[in-house]
Amino acid sequence: MHEKSGKASFGHIYDRQDPREYFKTLGIMDYRIPDHGQRLFGALVERRREAGEDPVNVVDICCSYGINAALLKHDLTLDDLYERYCSEELGSLSTDELAKGDAAYYAGRAREAAPRVTGLDVAENAVSYALRAGLLDAGATEDLEKDRPSETLRRAVSGADLFTVSGGIGYISERTFDALLGCVDGGSPPWVAVLALRWVSYEEISGVLDGYGLVTEKLEGRTFEQRSFADDTEREYVCRELRGMGVDTEGKEEDGSYHAEFYLSRPAEQVSESSVGDLLAPVLADEQQ
Ligand SMILES: C[S@@+](CC[C@H](N)C(=O)[O-])C[C@H]1O[C@@H](n2cnc3c(N)ncnc32)[C@H](O)[C@@H]1O
Repeated sequence: MHEKSGKASFGHIYDRQDPREYFKTLGIMDYRIPDHGQRLFGALVERRREAGEDPVNVVDICCSYGINAALLKHDLTLDDLYERYCSEELGSLSTDELAKGDAAYYAGRAREAAPRVTGLDVAENAVSYALRAGLLDAGATEDLEKDRPSETLRRAVSGADLFTVSGGIGYISERTFDALLGCVDGGSPPWVAVLALRWVSYEEISGVLDGYGLVTEKLEGRTFEQRSFADDTEREYVCRELRGMGVDTEGKEEDGSYHAEFYLSRPAEQVSESSVGDLLAPVLADEQQ
């Protein structure tokens, strides 16, 4: 699976020494997907905790600078992160100074019932920063699209309760999920929660998840704004592609932003007890107020 050719590329900000350029560049595009991840993944962490997992073990795939970990583990919003990393005050710091400041900043805002987050990303500098800032409890920089997981990664992932992905589908395919689920200890497999752009076909991924006993549901009746289009050319390209797939873009991409859908995969008996819509109803109701 490859990124689509008409999509603006942000590869140059994925592996900097620290997250400042990532937030500056994506802030201009009103990148919001980690904000949705905080509510949706956060609600699922809570459900797993209520079911007796404490701490909940999250594996965040395509974790970048630890953004989902920052939002799941701390009393902070995505806007707080934009404000911090785009501030003039922090702009002149060296990466070392920023990492030390960040470690104190996050330590002072830790949530009581925070999950334990293991991050996986191919961007070595980004993962290394997330570890130094104390955002990730463990980190790996293996490319499971190409390679088999190391023993260290196997051990780090073996007790996972929840896999999360935001902004990563298209970079990773069913191969990465297959490799990671193959690392998990016997017993109940982890839940897999994914925000994926609407033009992504989730069929191959859900097929692989099915092989591990996981049934995939798409959250119906709701999409999530990911970011604004870079320009009209990108908007027109995306709308044309989506219409070609039979997707109605009115009121969504046509208005200027990418939209993502939410998928959750769980063991069949849990899906028959409550749907993804039921599980997320409290957070989705809150946001409509
Ligand atoms: C758009 S960013 C998303 C980052 C973060 N999850 C977020 O929501 O802001 C995509 C990330 O996927 C990572 N990536 C690309 N190919 C990958 C691979 N094969 N395995 C793991 N991560 C990969 C990139 O390095 C980048 O950090």
